[in-house]
Amino acid sequence: MELMINWLSLIVPFLGFVLGFGVLKRLNNLYYALKLGKKWDELPPGDLSWPLIGSTLSFLKYFTFGPPERFIGDFSRRYGKLDMYKTHIFGKPTIIVCKPEICRQVLTDETKFIPSYPTSITAVFGKKSLLQVPKEEHRKLRRLTMAPISGHAALEMYIDHIEHSVISGLEEWSSMKKPLELLTTIKQLTFKVIWNIFMGSTPIKSTSIGEMETLNENIALAFLTLPLNFPGLPFHKALMAGKRLNEIFQSYLDEKRMVKKSKGENWEAKDMMDLLMEVRDEDGEGFDDETIRELIFGMLFGGQETTAFTTMWAVLFLTDNPHIFQKAKEEQEDIIRRRASTQKGVSFSEIKQMKFLSQVIDETLRLSSVAFSVFREATVDVEINGKIIPKGWKVIPWFRGLNMDQKLHPSPQQFNPSRWDNFGRNSGVFTPFGLGVWMCPGRDLARMEISIFLHYFVLNYKIERLNPKCKLNYLPIPRPRDKCLARVIKTPSK
Ligand code: HEM
Repeated sequence: MELMINWLSLIVPFLGFVLGFGVLKRLNNLYYALKLGKKWDELPPGDLSWPLIGSTLSFLKYFTFGPPERFIGDFSRRYGKLDMYKTHIFGKPTIIVCKPEICRQVLTDETKFIPSYPTSITAVFGKKSLLQVPKEEHRKLRRLTMAPISGHAALEMYIDHIEHSVISGLEEWSSMKKPLELLTTIKQLTFKVIWNIFMGSTPIKSTSIGEMETLNENIALAFLTLPLNFPGLPFHKALMAGKRLNEIFQSYLDEKRMVKKSKGENWEAKDMMDLLMEVRDEDGEGFDDETIRELIFGMLFGGQETTAFTTMWAVLFLTDNPHIFQKAKEEQEDIIRRRASTQKGVSFSEIKQMKFLSQVIDETLRLSSVAFSVFREATVDVEINGKIIPKGWKVIPWFRGLNMDQKLHPSPQQFNPSRWDNFGRNSGVFTPFGLGVWMCPGRDLARMEISIFLHYFVLNYKIERLNPKCKLNYLPIPRPRDKCLARVIKTPSK
């Protein structure tokens, strides 16, 4: 009898635990099934998993330790390879979209889907960044901010500065005795370039550069994390970094306003911050400081990190594929051969002729999935292929899945720029810069910057990595854990 009681005292808590565990794991599904009523049955298959955290931990696990494909792989193993799955991620019920046509629909139908980023991002970037302002305000702000970073005339103005930064950067890196973190040095380069465009008329204080780099890194760390604001946690660090960056931008803004006041009539706008200070709407109202700061902050961060990571990956993929490196180099040598002897440096029309290099950039964006997705929210119930995306639910078009889909890109793990020879655009298959009204306004600038870098790199340099087999971390953007520790080596010119 005593033995039986002993057994029971073990079994009952165990069964209670298993039962509780099972119920808890289904609680989120139960909650939303009750909330949505009949509609629940029309949702795509999937699992909302644990209350509050949903599948966030599984996402963080695969994106931190790899391979990130396993995150969606878990869904397709359980429910089959489908167009859409339901889940609960970053604190919200979410539909993940894995089919190009539906991704395209989500990105381009702005009456039904609007940007809606996780709290860890929106809290740091503020409510005035382009991806957060309401649609009407977005149209106006976008028109203003696009002008200095797109179109032939604007872009051509930046070539000299980019070229000069690239040439001196590569020269300096190759003269270093010690190996360097290629990612860090390229980030410094893209930061310089973007600073010149946004704030260039005010010289950057040398103390700000180092500090801003650290702050940017702290912000990036918290990009897709749980929004837990406790000292020591990434989200807290990112909030602090965002606050400090805003203080730094405010100090530049104050300085600019003083210069403007002292120059009076003779003052003219020379960079994006100047332009934003000048703008007036129909009622003569200008932007307040908060709007200017947050707009610049969002663009500076978005434009610098993404471009730097893509540049680093292009260098790595070219290095790992010597025959493709050689082909890219031959195209650049050909461009130089055809150049007039009076021309100094690379020209805008030459960049347009770099067809193979442009394919190298596309292939880099595909294989690295620098932007693994974007975030949307359904503003109404949307029916797609007989399934419902409920109003208020988040929607994630899974770019990363499309980029690595065997059917869309045969041998997806292979770096093969020639796959883009006859590729039809705008099908939703390949959208590294998004699509629709929120499509990246900096895409041409980014491509130009990367092209100029690769032009000089393939012609005159190579790298030797210290840890070529170094593991990757995928959050927020994929990178080798050693930040690509390497030597930059100058190659003898012909
Ligand atoms: C390889 C480099 C880049 C990649 C992969 C990239 C990717 C993207 C993507 C996917 C979006 C769409 C976000 C969405 O729809 O929710 C976006 C938006 C944006 N990007 Fe980029 N970007 C790059 C470079 C740049 C540069 C150089 C700048 C600025 C100079 C920039 C500024 C922006 C801004 C301001 C938005 C928000 C646009 C809006 O809301 O209207 N990006 N980018």
